[in-house]
Amino acid sequence: MKKAVSINKKISFFKKKTISVDGDKSLSIRFVLLSSLSKGKCIAKNLLKSEDVISAINIIRKLGIKIKINNNLCEVNGKGLFGHKFKKNLILDSKNSGTTARLMCSMLSNSDHWIKIIGDKSLKKRDMSRVIKPLKLFGIKFKNNSTKLPISIKGPKILKPIKYNENLGSAQCKSAVMIAALKAEGKTKLKCLPSRNHTELMFKNVLKVPIKINKKKNYDYIEVHGNNEFKKFNYQIPGDISSASFFIVLTLLSKNNYLTIKNVNINPSRMGIIKILNMMGGKIKILKKKFYKGELIADIFVKSKRKLKAINLDPKLNSSAIDEFLLIFLTACVCKGVSTFKNLSELNKKESKRLDWGIKILRMMNVKVKKIQNNGIKIWGKPNLKLEKNYVIKDYLKDHRIFMVSTIAALTLGGNWKIYDTNCFKTSFPKYLKILNSLGAKVR
Ligand code: S3P
Repeated sequence: MKKAVSINKKISFFKKKTISVDGDKSLSIRFVLLSSLSKGKCIAKNLLKSEDVISAINIIRKLGIKIKINNNLCEVNGKGLFGHKFKKNLILDSKNSGTTARLMCSMLSNSDHWIKIIGDKSLKKRDMSRVIKPLKLFGIKFKNNSTKLPISIKGPKILKPIKYNENLGSAQCKSAVMIAALKAEGKTKLKCLPSRNHTELMFKNVLKVPIKINKKKNYDYIEVHGNNEFKKFNYQIPGDISSASFFIVLTLLSKNNYLTIKNVNINPSRMGIIKILNMMGGKIKILKKKFYKGELIADIFVKSKRKLKAINLDPKLNSSAIDEFLLIFLTACVCKGVSTFKNLSELNKKESKRLDWGIKILRMMNVKVKKIQNNGIKIWGKPNLKLEKNYVIKDYLKDHRIFMVSTIAALTLGGNWKIYDTNCFKTSFPKYLKILNSLGAKVR
């Protein structure tokens, strides 16, 4: 594939289409890691085969676990809570995947040699202290005082349970603590700001380990009783709402189109994007809801609608749309009025500094944006926004979501775009361009 894609034509009329997106990334990585700790052969259907998930698979294989991938099935031969093999001088490469790197720190909790975790240029810039801090309390050792990759980890034979307050609203941090808690002798207690709850749902409904979850007004209280082996399990991965979101915004901002996206995970802790677009006037519908092992699955129906209105977003919704803010900013550009978003510091801690990049792209599009206190922004929307100039997106640390949102901006607002690092969407959504082109785009 070429180094950069060029887009100089808006998407035409695709009328009524139905698509399915790739499997959920958070659930796929959790399946790979947790199944390796089970006792027996676990099978997942529709596992996402993106670069991030492949990194997780390769790491688990290096820990002595057999994983077979056959068409749509992934088979993991779990060896129990303490069944991983920790060879000397092992180096585990998380590549671009923050979820893999952070959750792996707890998977290595009982290794008897130093095991090194490394990552790519983007991952090396990301903060690991959010997991190092609680994991040290379990008795896990970290070589040096480094808070960035590479880091080396060694564990005690027996982990002691902990009490921890998670105040970032980070599901990765919460999940790292919960996975370490699986191996600790006794009860680990967590008080955390709400974030995606896939790990809790898997513990409760799939692994069936002793867990208590208590949702209170501002915090979630979780208790995990460790040192309980769990049996093999099967899992069917639904579509990823973060991937679906690109097509939701594409349809919303194009003309006279209707799109159904089938079988998407609409877990309420991930539904921020739908709620926010509907607050802007989107009228997106959720159809055929059903539960699967605690997760809510449905079809999403969206039709084009350019008459949208600005919002002042309650930051309580931030964590449920944390990966979708670039799309939300793009939509705010065509809303009538001034939109305000607050407390977005976490956005600058993703694969790239997404808050800064969002502002940069919007300014390049000649949209008025102002950074306000506490990492917030205001966006002055222009309902008739039409782009006619040349736009280049380059050097964004190969952030997959920046690549994809730029293609959506080009296809809905016009202009002549050149977007570099063409392959980076494969970290989360390998079928992205194929689906985009099936709707009439010609992005190659
Ligand atoms: C994820 C949690 C989120 C999200 C990331 C995936 C997960 O990160 O941005 O893409 O699978 O737990 P934080 O936990 O840092 O908020």
